[in-house]
Amino acid sequence: MLEIQQLGMSFGGVHALSGVSLAINSGRIYGLIGPNGAGKSTAINAITGTIVPTSGRILWHGKDVARWPQHRRARSGLARTFQNLALFHKLSVRENVTCGAIHAHDDSSLRGVVDTALDAFGLAQIADEPVNVLSLGTRKRVEMARATVANPKLLLLDEPAAGLTGSEIAEFSHRMREFRDQGGAVLLVEHDMSLVMTLCEHLFVLDFGKLIAAGTPDEVRANPAVQAAYFGAGDEQQH
Ligand SMILES: Nc1ncnc2c1ncn2[C@@H]1O[C@H](COP(=O)(O)OP(=O)(O)O)[C@@H](O)[C@H]1O
Ligand SMILES: [Mg+2]
Repeated sequence: MLEIQQLGMSFGGVHALSGVSLAINSGRIYGLIGPNGAGKSTAINAITGTIVPTSGRILWHGKDVARWPQHRRARSGLARTFQNLALFHKLSVRENVTCGAIHAHDDSSLRGVVDTALDAFGLAQIADEPVNVLSLGTRKRVEMARATVANPKLLLLDEPAAGLTGSEIAEFSHRMREFRDQGGAVLLVEHDMSLVMTLCEHLFVLDFGKLIAAGTPDEVRANPAVQAAYFGAGDEQQH
């Protein structure tokens, strides 16, 4: 479904991504992990069109979308959430979720699609509240709801569990498995390793902008390069 070939992104002298190649198929949950500054958010930004990569190809259903504007990629089934959230703070929960649905549904079905998502994410009771009064965990659920009403084929989630309670994380995992079982694919960027290891079926590991490992959680955990770069192999070195 998605094939990234030799993706590169430089910010001045900083090589946030270099020569990254990976593939994503439908109906699977993938994890993208790596230390802070490894290039995870940059990868999501390049795939969804927030930034234009310096080099490489992003094949989405066989077409190179690397230079497509963000809205066109969104309409073709790429939906995301942001590490630092990107909601309209003064608008209500319902209005924010509706923003995600407008391009994917016609006027007659819009209201029903939004209501279903508000229910599914436990937001129906607070649909008319402005999002800026809500807790971080609730705002993250609003962003998830907004991403899912766009009919995504691939959901790219940038640290969705940070700041969530245990029960919110369990609920999130349940939603993602449901989405996967309906044929959706997920690319999850997340620091919560127990969540990554239990939810993801396949992992990609970035370190200093390079893909240093890929495979099942067990394979990745056993990879010496990963242990050295990421799990620290006992040392406290920070990247
Ligand atoms: N817009 C930007 N301008 C300049 N440097 C950036 C920008 N975005 C990311 N970077 C740099 O690229 C590298 C990768 O960042 P990022 O993708 O945010 O890492 P991660 O999400 O893995 O923590 C870092 O060195 C970061 O400082
Ligand atoms: Mg990041």
